[in-house]
Amino acid sequence: DAHNNIPSPPGLPIIGNLLDIQDEVPIRGIEHLIDRYGPIIKLNFLGKERITIASVELLEELCDEKRFWKTPGDGLASLESKENPAEKSHTGLFSAPTEEDMDWQQAHRTLMPAFGPISIQSMFGEMHDIASQLVLKWARMGPSYRIPVTSDFTRLTLDTIALCAMDYRFNSFYQDELHPFLQAMTSTLTASSDRLKISSLIQKMLPWDKSGEKLNADREYMRVLSRELVQVRRDHPTDKRDLLNAMVNGKDPKTGEMMPDGLISANMVTFLIAGHETTSGLLSFAFVNLLQSPDAYFKAQQEVDRVVGKGKLGIEHMKNLKYIEAVLRETLRLTPTVPAFTRSIRRDNPNDFEELAGGKFAVNREDKILCLISKTQRDPKVYGDDANEFKPDRMLDENFLRLPKAAWKPFGSGVRACIGRAFAWQEAQMAIALLLQTFNFRLDDPSYKMKIKQTLTLKPDNFYMRATLREGIT
Ligand code: HEM
Repeated sequence: DAHNNIPSPPGLPIIGNLLDIQDEVPIRGIEHLIDRYGPIIKLNFLGKERITIASVELLEELCDEKRFWKTPGDGLASLESKENPAEKSHTGLFSAPTEEDMDWQQAHRTLMPAFGPISIQSMFGEMHDIASQLVLKWARMGPSYRIPVTSDFTRLTLDTIALCAMDYRFNSFYQDELHPFLQAMTSTLTASSDRLKISSLIQKMLPWDKSGEKLNADREYMRVLSRELVQVRRDHPTDKRDLLNAMVNGKDPKTGEMMPDGLISANMVTFLIAGHETTSGLLSFAFVNLLQSPDAYFKAQQEVDRVVGKGKLGIEHMKNLKYIEAVLRETLRLTPTVPAFTRSIRRDNPNDFEELAGGKFAVNREDKILCLISKTQRDPKVYGDDANEFKPDRMLDENFLRLPKAAWKPFGSGVRACIGRAFAWQEAQMAIALLLQTFNFRLDDPSYKMKIKQTLTLKPDNFYMRATLREGIT
């Protein structure tokens, strides 16, 4: 039948195709198989079957919300602690199933206004505050400093989301050691992304292995701390317009109910995680691209000089930074920091299977289908022979708005698309504009070849640059 038409690259007994993803960047392994077997393949990991699709045409079908919906992947689900037996466990927006599940529905309805344009614009001042700390650091360190780009951008995005979401200052630019919350979060993220690595599967079988206990302790620590933050806010109410207040005081517009503390803290942790890795990766890749493409760098800096000049960067400039917007779009096309998402047949879809590509293939109800956007966004049928090249012009509005809908999906799709998109966009656009206004940048190693590192998200590895203050900037 059509299900069997899906090519399935041979694997080994028991472990299946696990060896194919032991690459340092696991999705690369899947991408290589796609190159060999075509835009839809069936893989087997330890007995679990996984289908992957990698063309814009197929993604268009998988994004049809009448037929398919999000099934949370296996990765992030393990991040949120559910181990307090005394109360109902709660799941954050990212990992919750869509269906009648109250957690997703309630948090989604309560939080949508808090992520809307007016609310995000009101966060500009705080975003600018943290970005100015980054500018100060690089200015003071001077041109001989090898800027560790991804870690400084991680400080930026983490401090920004913590300040805007819950009025908490990690002050990461003023410490070498990561805050214990961040250490716990980082090791949980690493454990989650390593779970299919053979080395970590073997490690877990060793009798003296303590990684499970450490993971539980880290999760518990995050749960307790985020619960404390909710309690502190309840004890000391403020009228600040942040995400925590939206959750503590907000009512579900449909039911009038308020969010229980466990649901608030699960979402707090979700925002801290989902809200920083992704944006910091985007900024890092954008700088790699700009520094390796002098023409684009020049156009971006010229745009800042024309739109903002030497004065203070403000929210009013954002809508006129069209070229920088195209740079960000093109960066997320080539290196989507969330490189894939998962879909399956909707529970309320009466069909037990769905045909794809006009009946050539079919997927069953129990199938989880990985939509590999790191590949669909380089589809030569849509982007042409130069699909692998960085060309921001193709992402200027006049071209971007003409693309097929499924050609650019770095923020996911439909009701389960990224709730923080406007937040990330404002933060990234502002940071790039402020940095290009203040400094001239160059690669630390002019022959740098981009290498990608995959934890939960993608980031450039071993990337350093140098910054010199521009003339007239003090
Ligand atoms: C969902 C990407 C920034 C919070 C998603 C999804 C993607 C994504 C692809 C959908 C995943 C799926 O279908 O399984 C990104 C990228 C970002 C970014 C590329 C930055 C460049 C942010 C920020 C926040 C955030 C700043 C929070 C402030 C979330 C949440 C969800 C989500 C809560 C789940 C939404 C739901 O299912 O209702 N993001 N994200 N993201 N993102 Fe983002």
